[in-house]
Amino acid sequence: MNQNILVTGAGGFIAHHMVNYLKDKGFWVRAVDIVEPEFESSNANEFKLLDLRLKDAAEEAVEGIDQVYHLAADMGGIGYITAFHADISRNNILMNTHMLEAARLEKIERFFYSSSACVYPDYRQDSNELDGLKEEDAYPAAPEEGYGWEKLFTEKLCQYYTQDYDLQTRVARFHNVYGPLGTFDGGKEKAPAALCRKIAKSNYEDDIEVWGDGEQTRSFMYIDDCVEGIYRLMQSNHSEPLNLGTDLMVSVNQLVDIIASVAGKKINKIHDLSKPQGVRGRNSDNTKLSEFLNWTPNIDLEDGMKITYEWINNQVK
Ligand SMILES: NC(=O)c1ccc[n+]([C@@H]2O[C@H](COP(=O)([O-])OP(=O)(O)OC[C@H]3O[C@@H](n4cnc5c(N)ncnc54)[C@H](O)[C@@H]3O)[C@@H](O)[C@H]2O)c1
Repeated sequence: MNQNILVTGAGGFIAHHMVNYLKDKGFWVRAVDIVEPEFESSNANEFKLLDLRLKDAAEEAVEGIDQVYHLAADMGGIGYITAFHADISRNNILMNTHMLEAARLEKIERFFYSSSACVYPDYRQDSNELDGLKEEDAYPAAPEEGYGWEKLFTEKLCQYYTQDYDLQTRVARFHNVYGPLGTFDGGKEKAPAALCRKIAKSNYEDDIEVWGDGEQTRSFMYIDDCVEGIYRLMQSNHSEPLNLGTDLMVSVNQLVDIIASVAGKKINKIHDLSKPQGVRGRNSDNTKLSEFLNWTPNIDLEDGMKITYEWINNQVK
């Protein structure tokens, strides 16, 4: 186990957990971000503050590295990704392009790229009761504006770097990851964290605001399953994009009820139809995940939400 690993985006949620996972496995880990982790310091052997939109910074990040876990991105919840199409697309395309090219020049043996369920087309997600999305459903392409197009294009860029330069790439499409140490306030938070915060701040029988009519559906994956899945994918021979999520689809209203139940609070939902709700319904089809990794995420939604709610509740206090 003498590999040197780079984890980008390690000031953020998933990559911070990824660093801990890889350190526990005994790897030497360099972490990179433009910011330090918000809630606890990194366990990485080395933490470098670098802006990966810059070519020189990407080259510095990969120096002496064997494998890259590229999780840095300009991203946030549905409010954020629908408001800043130009910034998100430009920042991420710059970062991803420089990271892939730097990895090629450094002769990196394996490169992980974090894609998203936002690559799937709108026309496959216009009802809240559809079958799970299979990997091939991403085409013909009609992804989420900005963020989804940028993810889909970088998936192709990974494929081209494999075809033309033999850079080994692994690509996961995450479906709604949640857990402790994730942003829960300030505009970049995602629905599970925002709902935990609202419920933590409320008293018994208070009203809480829910975006849309709450009947939009999603599946949610606990962070420990996410990092386990990323690591398993990196060890596998599967080089095509692969879903990484649970296939338990719940509505946002059901998610609110689960969080209220673990919080021991009775909550009234007030629906704000003027707020963005994203696609109407989305679930992961895990046939390929199960086939290629011989594993699927298995942490129960209520168990994961209990841990997440307790952590956010303590932060709010
Ligand atoms: N959280 C989810 O549910 C989810 C779902 C789908 C895909 N993803 C993808 O997973 C990855 C990690 O997401 P996350 O939830 O941990 O997000 P996050 O926002 O918590 O972490 C991303 C990190 O990237 C860093 N970053 C942004 N611009 C940078 C730059 N120019 N240089 C260096 N670092 C920069 C940010 O500072 C941040 O700390 C991202 O690629 C994201 O698109 C996440």
